[in-house]
Amino acid sequence: MEVVILPDAPAIGSVAADAIGALLDRKPTAVLGLATGSSPLAIYDELASRCDAGLISFRQARGFMLDEYVGLDADHPQRYRAVIDTVFVSRVDFGPAAVQGPDGTATDIPAACAAYEDAIRQAGGVDLQILGIGTDGHIAFNEPGSSLASRTRIMTLTRQTRIDNARFFDGDVDAVPTHCLTQGLATIMDARHVILVATGKGKAEAVHHPVEGPVSAMWPATVLQHHPHVTVLLDDAAARRLQLVDYYRETYRSKPEWQGI
Ligand code: F6R
Repeated sequence: MEVVILPDAPAIGSVAADAIGALLDRKPTAVLGLATGSSPLAIYDELASRCDAGLISFRQARGFMLDEYVGLDADHPQRYRAVIDTVFVSRVDFGPAAVQGPDGTATDIPAACAAYEDAIRQAGGVDLQILGIGTDGHIAFNEPGSSLASRTRIMTLTRQTRIDNARFFDGDVDAVPTHCLTQGLATIMDARHVILVATGKGKAEAVHHPVEGPVSAMWPATVLQHHPHVTVLLDDAAARRLQLVDYYRETYRSKPEWQGI
């Protein structure tokens, strides 16, 4: 696991965009895994401006979202499908239907989850997965106690996650859905490169566990310690509980420029 501590969200966006640009240069048909929420916004902003400038293109690329709320109307602005369209997909040059998400409106939920796993497999798997992390340690919506071998399925959101996400629902925690469809931890582990992004002191505890703690279903992101290519991009505040901060900084500083993350 590589840990990179950067000054702020735009710097994180730029390093992640470099990795995505390099991937698309070598493989224009790359499959990206897309997280919603606040953490990846600087990455999407940077990718959108590079796309505007003609420096990057998603024309042949595909995307798979991590998760989707269950129980919101199809036209609800906080459906993750609507959010990802606004913050990223509509700002770059993806082809029509190139980005898919789990169907949170499905009546047959197990079938919808199985179809989603199939779609990812048929696309050749995710080349680069962008992840945020919840304050309770979730990745996608794999809440504490999730099986480390889990696949796409329905999950109940914890009270903490619903409180955290109430900011997107005018502060009304009761308006936040209680359930979601989410890629499982094993689904995420199939991605070839995982970039986990966290900023702010509110994420310091959640970040400490996957980077330096023992692997445990109580901190679902710790499963990433078993992944061969994970990059954790943090600002100083999110890194403040890490013991080996000086080592991570020195390692990144001394890395040859050509190497990337
Ligand atoms: C969203 C997702 C979640 C978020 C996490 C952090 O698709 O999968 O795991 O990444 O809840 O959210 P923010 O970035 O809003 O703090």
